Amino acid sequence: MQNEYIPIALSTIQPNTCTGCNLYIKIRADADIRYVLYCSGNNALKEDKIKELLYKQINYLFINQSEEKLYLRYMESQLKEVIHDPSIDANVKSKMVYNVAKSIMIDIFNDPRAGDNVDRSKNWVANTVEYVLNNKDATSTMLNMVSHDYYTYTHCVDVSVLGLLFAKYLRLDGKEMNNFGTGLLLHDIGKTQINLGTLNKNGKLSEVEYAEIKKHVEFAHEILNDLGGLNEDSFYPVLQHHEKLNGKGYPKGLKGNEIHDYGKIATIIDVYDALTTKRPYSDARKPFPALQIMKELMDEHFDEVYFRSFVAFLGSRG
Ligand SMILES: [Fe+2]
Repeated sequence: MQNEYIPIALSTIQPNTCTGCNLYIKIRADADIRYVLYCSGNNALKEDKIKELLYKQINYLFINQSEEKLYLRYMESQLKEVIHDPSIDANVKSKMVYNVAKSIMIDIFNDPRAGDNVDRSKNWVANTVEYVLNNKDATSTMLNMVSHDYYTYTHCVDVSVLGLLFAKYLRLDGKEMNNFGTGLLLHDIGKTQINLGTLNKNGKLSEVEYAEIKKHVEFAHEILNDLGGLNEDSFYPVLQHHEKLNGKGYPKGLKGNEIHDYGKIATIIDVYDALTTKRPYSDARKPFPALQIMKELMDEHFDEVYFRSFVAFLGSRG
């Protein structure tokens, strides 16, 4: 029973707004814990109710797990307000930024051709860029959110978060961060068109299977072209994140400076995230061994200057 309810920070609810999901308070009576409806989903949580809760030192409300999606859609709509609210702790903000991205990506992977996919991605990136640029604790708290479980949608979120934090470290401006980050978030959308058995195969891929996986780049290009609304610079991380500096990557086998800076950085982050994430066929590596593998076994794949900066960025935690 208890596991059916999940806590949400009261600070994330804007006064006088409807969350869309029922909000409960936790009541302890002797050994029993009960969840009592406090505000139903189609009613706004009034400011005086929030004040009353805070007065009683109740900082968390609860939602039923089955309504988590509704809460995340609400959070997505309130992200800007939350990010700019100085009273909300950076840990709470980072968790929300991360969970909203995960929710968006789950929807996109379920329905890659939905008309609002590009807008939702761009909005999330725009809010995250503002957050990362204007909050001194954003980098450390966001890095803590990066997950080590492997799902393609989590990988997309992690690559985008790492990329945006690294882009700040490289002093890209806000517009560049937006274009780069949106491309990173959507870089693997083409994997929705690949057979799941092949994608998650536990073991060596046959030549045919590898050729199929490689097609995810073209599929992504096609889906994003059809959807429209994406800045042309956002296509570089999508189209070039498997290109290698020595020309042995795919889909085009581009070499050196034929690869755009966004492509060079995307390749580094894509590989780093894959190595530090638990996969169907390997355990997660710690950052240092992952960077060591990249340096020793894949040296010719990466742009040296960006790779060194990336190592320095991780060492500094931003
Ligand atoms: Fe990929």
